[in-house]
This record gives sequence, C-alpha cells and structure tokens, in this order.
Amino acid sequence: MSGQNPLKKLMNNIPVPQQKLKEVLRVEGLNKVFDRSSHRIQALREVDLTLYEGEMVAIMGTSGSGKSTLLNMLSAIDAPTSGKMFVFGEHANIHQEPQATIYRRDHIGFVFQSFELLEDLDVMDNIAMPLILKGLTHYEIELRVEEALDQVGMKKWRKHLPTELSGGQQQRVAIARALVAKPSILLADEPTGSLDFNTTNDILNLLVQLNKDLQQTMVIVTHDAYVASYADRVLFFHDGQIIDVYTNEKDENDLDKILEKFKYVARGER
Ligand SMILES: Nc1ncnc2c1ncn2[C@@H]1O[C@H](COP(=O)(O)OP(=O)(O)OP(=O)(O)O)[C@@H](O)[C@H]1O
Ligand SMILES: [Mg+2]
Repeated sequence: MSGQNPLKKLMNNIPVPQQKLKEVLRVEGLNKVFDRSSHRIQALREVDLTLYEGEMVAIMGTSGSGKSTLLNMLSAIDAPTSGKMFVFGEHANIHQEPQATIYRRDHIGFVFQSFELLEDLDVMDNIAMPLILKGLTHYEIELRVEEALDQVGMKKWRKHLPTELSGGQQQRVAIARALVAKPSILLADEPTGSLDFNTTNDILNLLVQLNKDLQQTMVIVTHDAYVASYADRVLFFHDGQIIDVYTNEKDENDLDKILEKFKYVARGER
C-alpha cells in the first residue's frame, strides 16, 4: 500500500522464530499520554507488537523511552490512552475492572528490579501469595510452591525472610512468585538492574533455563546488551516507539550487533 507508515512496515516484517508462531498477546496502535497540569508526555506512540508462545523478547532503549510504560500496559497495571489488545487472538478489554484484575491473575507474572518481596513473610509465603489470591486449596498451594522453589533452586531457604537473603536470592524468590501461578507471560522490568555481574549471570541463566524448560513466554526490559543477547528478539525503544528490532542469531556476534544498533537507537536513528 502506498503511503504506508514505514514503522508499521518494519513491524510487519519482523522475523519471528519459526515453530513458535502461536500468538499469546498482541497490541495494536497503543498510545499512552500522561497529561499533567504542568506538562503533557506521550510515553507510547502507536506501538504494535505481537508476542509468541515460548519466545524471550528483550526491550532496550534510552531512559524515559517508554519501556516501563509498555510493561504497565501489557500487564494492565495501567490503561493506555488508546489502542487494542488481543489475548490469544481474542480482542480483550483488559484495562477496566474487574477484567484487569482477572487478566493479571490469570496471565501475568511480574518481576521488578527491586524484587518487591513482602518483608514480613518468609520465602514460602511470598511465593504462595498469587495462589492464595487465586483461591487454591492449601494442598495445591503447598505442591505448587515446592515446585516453584525447586525451579529457582531455593528449597533450602524456604523459611527465610527476604532480609536474610542476598539480592540474587531475593530475585530468585521473586521469579518463583511470578511463575507459581503459571502465567501466560512473564514480564520483567530490569530484573538484573540491581545485581552485580556474577549474580546477573546467575539470574540470566535461570531465566533462560525457565524459558526453555517451561516454554515460558518472557519480556525482559534491560539496559544490558549482554542480557538482551540471550533473548530471541531485541526491540529497541526510542521516544515511545519501537524503532528497530534485532533477531539474535545465538552466536558470538550478537552482543556486538546489539551494541551497534543501540548506539544508533540512543541517537534516535534507525
Ligand atoms: N505516572 C507517570 N506520570 C507522568 N509521566 C510519566 C509517568 N510514568 C512515566 N512517565 C513519563 O513517560 C515517559 C516514559 O517513562 P518510562 O518510565 O516508561 O521510561 P523507561 O523507558 O522505562 O525509562 P527507564 O529506562 O529510565 O526506566 C517518561 O518521559 C516519563 O517521565
Ligand atoms: Mg523503566
């Protein structure tokens, strides 16, 4: 079609991993405007994005480019100003209550940079929280929490309080909590942002392992090109838009290619 928005054309041409074509979540024309008395910011501009089952997507972009805002829309923590969302191909009105709460409960696991564990609860109770909210039986909760503890290698620490754990251990617990209810999508906003290099590696390896073992669809916002090099696709954000995409070839050149692209993206170039 002549006159097609070049950005849309780019998005339509994004290569997606073969054999992973089952659509989990799709957004079309997502806009988010923060209208404050002193200023007006358009944090998202006409974002189109499809997430496929089992893929790991990394999002990189300069500070303030809209990455967290997008995750907040995808998780229905906040509502877009306009745009459509489709869950497993069905148009879904997830940004109003009670649908938003139900959608979050059934489809979303969220991991934050600062872990956000409940300080007064031990590891088991923190992980159990989404299942309690789901109304599962005591027996089911115990089974699922044990399984999640095992998946993140934290069985030995089940009775510890968050304050008795290292940052990496706390993030393992937060990942277990995000996955325990078997969400359709795990969203992680800079999950390694508070961790040192070795711990970043541990958490990254854990996420990659969970992505493989559970076929867990994941979206990871990161400032770290090394983290992004483990994803299937890397989306580059600038000024509220996805302005570039890189499909990792899973070889030793990925890191350099991501860094190279990011250099242009940081300047707003494609
Ligand atoms: N609740 C809010 N009220 C007003 N403006 C907001 C709000 N949340 C985000 N913004 C603005 O929207 C834009 C995008 O913010 P966002 O937090 O999504 O960026 P980001 O890409 O996650 O940045 P960072 O890498 O620093 O975390 C910024 O200009 C920010 O100031
Ligand atoms: Mg952010």
